[in-house]
Amino acid sequence: MIGIVPSVLSADFTRLGDQVREAEEAGAQRIQVDVMDGHFVPNITMGPMIVDAVRRSTTLPVEAHLMISHPEQFIEEFAKAGADFIIVHQEVSPHLHRIIQQIKAAGKMAGIALTPSTPVIMLEDILSMLDMALIMTVNPGFGGQKFIPETLPKIKRLREMIDQQQIHCDIEVDGGIHETVVPLVVQAGANLLVAGSAVYNERESVAEAIARLRNAI
Ligand code: DX5
Repeated sequence: MIGIVPSVLSADFTRLGDQVREAEEAGAQRIQVDVMDGHFVPNITMGPMIVDAVRRSTTLPVEAHLMISHPEQFIEEFAKAGADFIIVHQEVSPHLHRIIQQIKAAGKMAGIALTPSTPVIMLEDILSMLDMALIMTVNPGFGGQKFIPETLPKIKRLREMIDQQQIHCDIEVDGGIHETVVPLVVQAGANLLVAGSAVYNERESVAEAIARLRNAI
């Protein structure tokens, strides 16, 4: 089952709750909150308060994608705010094993995200601990960017690694995911598709946008 995971980064924040509910009604599998600190990535967006608001607007699982330095200082806060999945970047710490233990100790699912320049081999020794791995298909920091096609072989390599280790780990892709890109990333092995501007835009309703992505699968 390929899941669509709307990112609220491109939502209309004057009516965030409605936008989240529209996504749920349209068949989204999860909702993603893009947390950015202006340090790990060159943009500042939102924090635990928004995770809490999204949590109270949907019954779907909520992902907190932490594009921040020192995520270990904020795991508790995002867990309390209602994140079901907490995703940290491989690039922020040499102690990912401990951070994953911390996420699980907080009773949450753990994910690790890789920027386009980080090879999947960096996940090899912790893959069996993960509930999901996130392959960034743009350079993190902003919505509405263009998909980076060089990430396709990387998705394939990660799927092979998961199959080799005979474990269950979702592969989520994030960044520039639009209907023309969907068949490529699904064929490469992704099973969760994060989409911000392809879901929340001026051209069409959330329902139409999600149906368009679903058809492309
Ligand atoms: C980091 C963010 C974005 C967002 C998706 O930049 O993680 O990738 O989730 O944005 P779109 O789907 O508009 O590229």
